[in-house]
Amino acid sequence: MVNSGTDKFAPVKWRALAMALDMDPKICSEMFSHPNILWRRKTYLIRRVIRRGLREFEGLRARTTINFQPQWNSFAENSVALDRDGYVFVENFLTDSDFEILKDNWPKNRYFTPVTPNEDHKTSDKGLYCQHEKPGFDVGRNPVIYGLYKMFMSKNFRDEVTVLCGDDVARMPYHLLVQNSFWGSGLAPHRDSHDDVLKSKINFIYFVESNGSGWDAGGTAILKSNDFTKPIFIPFNLNNSCLFYYSESELFHGFPMIKFGKYRKNVIAHFCAS
Ligand SMILES: [Fe+2]
Repeated sequence: MVNSGTDKFAPVKWRALAMALDMDPKICSEMFSHPNILWRRKTYLIRRVIRRGLREFEGLRARTTINFQPQWNSFAENSVALDRDGYVFVENFLTDSDFEILKDNWPKNRYFTPVTPNEDHKTSDKGLYCQHEKPGFDVGRNPVIYGLYKMFMSKNFRDEVTVLCGDDVARMPYHLLVQNSFWGSGLAPHRDSHDDVLKSKINFIYFVESNGSGWDAGGTAILKSNDFTKPIFIPFNLNNSCLFYYSESELFHGFPMIKFGKYRKNVIAHFCAS
């Protein structure tokens, strides 16, 4: 049985398995105290209650049926670059028509868990988790996102991830979610933790839509250090583009606090050996 909300299915188990390491406490402190983030942290409870109420209300209304089967543009030709650099950035990730459908059906705020009171390094709203290919939300209320998740889970997509990685390792998407970022949202540069359960990890950050570019609007960068002084790569186009990077890399990833008036909508897909 699935739930119409997101709170009950918060990914406690996976949060514990995939931790952010080697962050700069000063950057975390700045992100923690940004005025918009401070405001959102302080109003977390009321936001959560309102969003839950809106979801309950929406549950009384009839569902709309959309059979979304998105197609992606092939990315496996970037295998050499991924092997060389440990990351790859591609544009036009989905076909144009499917990208438009996804933009037009992006989930309402009510499906996102607000920034929590103690959050200090990953200050975006998050929701619609799918853990180990099991959706923790009512797929009938967000059929377009579930259609996108099914694309990530499909054999053809997984086969292309294997070709991209060039290592004959079969992978599956063990952790999927959507994020909304806004003025003040940031991601403190960090490395991802290693663990004994999930191996051969590669992460996809699919930038769906933004009204800005690069670091103005949440372009997650690949960095040499745990601050923003030594960027290796900063994605400029945050509309229908995707950054792939090896999670077990020695490189850091993160983005500085988003500028006033800018926003970013994205999907995260974490793959590991299946
Ligand atoms: Fe990370």
